[in-house]
Amino acid sequence: MLFDSHAHLDDSKFDADREKVILSMQESGVSYIANIGYDLESSRRSIVLAKRYPFIYAVVGVHPHDVENLTEADILELKELAKSDKVVAIGEIGLDYYYDNSPRDLQKKWFERQIELALELKLPIVIHNRDSNSDCMEILRKYPVKKIGGIMHCYSGSAQMAKEVIDMGLCLSFAGPVTFKNNRRGVEAVAEVPLSKILIETDCPYLAPEPVRGTRNDSRNVKLVAEKVAEIKGISFEEVAKVTTENAKRVYRIK
Ligand code: NI
Repeated sequence: MLFDSHAHLDDSKFDADREKVILSMQESGVSYIANIGYDLESSRRSIVLAKRYPFIYAVVGVHPHDVENLTEADILELKELAKSDKVVAIGEIGLDYYYDNSPRDLQKKWFERQIELALELKLPIVIHNRDSNSDCMEILRKYPVKKIGGIMHCYSGSAQMAKEVIDMGLCLSFAGPVTFKNNRRGVEAVAEVPLSKILIETDCPYLAPEPVRGTRNDSRNVKLVAEKVAEIKGISFEEVAKVTTENAKRVYRIK
């Protein structure tokens, strides 16, 4: 039993075979998927998928890439979407200083606004953080995020920073990059972080793990991430699958 805690199965790369891919999940051991929005449109699409398939849950939010023209009216619309039955978190929200697709002051403003929305709705947050550790942590420290919890997705920081993230009441999710050769920092973080704080994900269609790196990723490959975590921690695949699934259900509050 595996839980892909972060997927984008609504992406156009699945337009030709989405139904087939999704229906093959359960026979591949994937029992739960969180499909993550990155703007209003993809948030709506995530809800449509969640309504159609019992094992898919939706996360709604606006990614830092897409905040440039965001308005307060959009936040109100997001709030309405978030009230839908199978919405389990607000995300993905955060900062991305690697691509800098939106001005940094706007990224920070809308990251904060969406944390406030999550606190208001009492929903956990799914955080995207790339090359923006210091500002991201500074913003998170300003809010009582412990009350809602959440996930630092595709974690790429140090083992040191992981400790502070955990102290804030958040979990860390690891994706394909942890399987890449020479990713010493990712391996160190997995080794240091207690299994009770680890989630696994694909971030599909991106970030396919080894040995299928470079191909279109899908949720079935979350198995390869679980295998890597098991190898690093020296425990069984079954234990990683079981505990990371429990962790994701706890954070997303799935019964
Ligand atoms: Ni993502």
